[in-house]
Amino acid sequence: MMEVKQVLHMNGGVGDTSYANNSVVQKTILTKGMPILEDAILDLYCTTFPKKLSIADLGCSSGPNTLFVISHIIDTIKMKCRELNHPLPEFQMFLNDLPGNDFNTVFSYLPGFYERLNEEKQVGLGQCFVAGVAGSFYGRLFPSESLHFIHSSNSLHWLSQVPQGLQNEMGISLNKGKIHIEKTSPPNVFRAYLAQFQRDFYLFLKSRSEEVIGGGRMVLTFSGRRSSDASSTECYFQWELITQTLNDMVSQGVMEQDKVDSFNIPYYAPSIQELEAIVEIEGSFSVDRIEIMEIDISTSGAKGIRAVTESMLVDQFGAAIMDDLFRTYEQKYVEYLSNNKSNHISLVLSMTRKG
Ligand SMILES: C[S@@+](CC[C@H](N)C(=O)[O-])C[C@H]1O[C@@H](n2cnc3c(N)ncnc32)[C@H](O)[C@@H]1O
Repeated sequence: MMEVKQVLHMNGGVGDTSYANNSVVQKTILTKGMPILEDAILDLYCTTFPKKLSIADLGCSSGPNTLFVISHIIDTIKMKCRELNHPLPEFQMFLNDLPGNDFNTVFSYLPGFYERLNEEKQVGLGQCFVAGVAGSFYGRLFPSESLHFIHSSNSLHWLSQVPQGLQNEMGISLNKGKIHIEKTSPPNVFRAYLAQFQRDFYLFLKSRSEEVIGGGRMVLTFSGRRSSDASSTECYFQWELITQTLNDMVSQGVMEQDKVDSFNIPYYAPSIQELEAIVEIEGSFSVDRIEIMEIDISTSGAKGIRAVTESMLVDQFGAAIMDDLFRTYEQKYVEYLSNNKSNHISLVLSMTRKG
């Protein structure tokens, strides 16, 4: 069973196919969700005016979005402090991602980041300390009751592993010829994906419930669906196009059918109802807001898909075919979007730790 923590990492560095250069869609999502993030952090700050704030960004990746989030949090509090004539608190900022993340590139941005903060010290800026935390957010990452605020964007749709139960007792794939949920996938496939998401999201909440103080806040943004129907495939066109590209390669004899049949993308986009049910069962957080955001995706999104999925595809299919695969994929992507209106759906979930 493919474990995501061993194979998933966004393309590192700052080259043509890097996440740093191909994360505009994620930046748009982040920016659209900012008002909800601002409300939550200000609410938290103005309730107790803590002298120190410990904040974690989970699934921070490596690129302009990484420091954009923590900068924006600091700026939001800074404006409030200016308005109230308060000294700024100290900030402990944790940037978390899987161990394969390009933390070196992230750290290389830090001197510039600190410099900008120092230039703006007029309001009695407290210190800001940034630390990297390598590990899976489907498990404990921080000591008990050590965090005030958690943010995560564009990350929690990644499952911890490829769902179990995608093969029958004979080891034959139930999702033959496909790499994700599609309209023609059998019901067992939908069920297996949902069950894996339920296990993972429960574990995520349980782990965070230990780490966040009572009254602490959490704002999570990730892919979702409008439809409550678990067999809805409204937001999976990008995977269908990879499937088509791989199947073309099988027909051309440059790819083995078996390789396609045995590969499944560990990604799930839940509905609001599915999320609410897990939050309720886990029981440690109350939901303050939950909203659907719709984002226009441009044809440049194809490069973004490469930056995000290449590490997993290389693991299964080898690096040699990646340029060919993504050349065809990009053509299909552009063609698809010129014939179909396909907006990306994200859900934003703002919660408070009970107690
Ligand atoms: C698309 S990037 C999002 C980066 C950034 N937050 C943004 O909005 O642009 C998703 C990130 O989630 C990370 N990720 C996926 N599963 C994870 C896990 N179990 N634990 C920690 N990070 C994870 C990936 O490695 C990747 O860097």
